Amino acid sequence: MAKNDQIVVKIAAKEQLTEDVVGLTLVSLEDELLPAWDPGAHIELTLETCTDAAGKIDTENVMLRQYSLCSDNRDCSQWQVAVLREEGGRGGSLFIHNQLQAGDTLKVSQPRNHFPFKPRKKCLFIAGGIGITPMLPMIQQAEADGLDWRLVYLSRERSRMSCLDKLASYDQSRITLNGDKEDGYIDLPGLLASCDSETSVYSCGPKPLLDALEQQHAEQAGQSDSWSLDIERFAAGPVDSSGGAFDVVINSTGQRIRIPEGQSALTVLREAGIKIPTSCGDGVCGSCETGVLSGTPDHRDSILSEEERADNDYMMLCVSRAISPELILDL
Ligand code: FES
Repeated sequence: MAKNDQIVVKIAAKEQLTEDVVGLTLVSLEDELLPAWDPGAHIELTLETCTDAAGKIDTENVMLRQYSLCSDNRDCSQWQVAVLREEGGRGGSLFIHNQLQAGDTLKVSQPRNHFPFKPRKKCLFIAGGIGITPMLPMIQQAEADGLDWRLVYLSRERSRMSCLDKLASYDQSRITLNGDKEDGYIDLPGLLASCDSETSVYSCGPKPLLDALEQQHAEQAGQSDSWSLDIERFAAGPVDSSGGAFDVVINSTGQRIRIPEGQSALTVLREAGIKIPTSCGDGVCGSCETGVLSGTPDHRDSILSEEERADNDYMMLCVSRAISPELILDL
């Protein structure tokens, strides 16, 4: 199955996990197994194609939204995602909370993984709010592999912590729950002081948490006992949109399109009628990931690893530009 192929799934169950988080259990329409995935993977929901028994609910607004798979990746009979209600968001989470029901069908992407789990001997998982979701299958993997792991789960208040049932079977001494309201703010430098060169830190959560982790990581980088850091962001840091013009060549047609200074390749190509999926527009979701056949991108996304950037096989057209005068894209 090609990377961009979609599949249609059914919502087998919709549960209210906390006051502002719902969980969706997705199954195949034909009682078949769903594609396999690894911890850290997410799927992209195409919300405009949601249907109920009466037909399509919405054909106007295309909303692509990405959610981490939080179920057991050894069980391909179902996938689970958890969705935080965001009143001030772009509408995807409200659509899921207010419109989707058990029994509805929707199109989803194949699992994609920009947050792969490749731990050292010890793992420190730091989850902020709904950022617990990609950590859950990683924890399961760490436990199965006999790794020395620890989870610190942060939230504004303990009642907002979802998925606690998925943590109940583990040795609770490995788990720290910290609600700001009940427990005060966590001492991040103190927490990280216990890490050493055998420790991988994995984190997903709000921007201030991830920024603070990146700063702590940068300060200890190069030391003999430096720990590794892998993060997944919900929202981008400041994106630098400056940069000169360059040409994009559409490989399938040979069409050459000039990307002017100050405009994104995604915007210009879509205006030229080239169909490219998009969602965040900020280089964090991966929807607009496009293959690069020739030329050197100037990567400005928050997704690709250093190795992936060096490979130059893919780029995020919403934010990335070109170092070379021309890029030939696999479009
Ligand atoms: S649209 Fe989200 S990474 Fe480009």
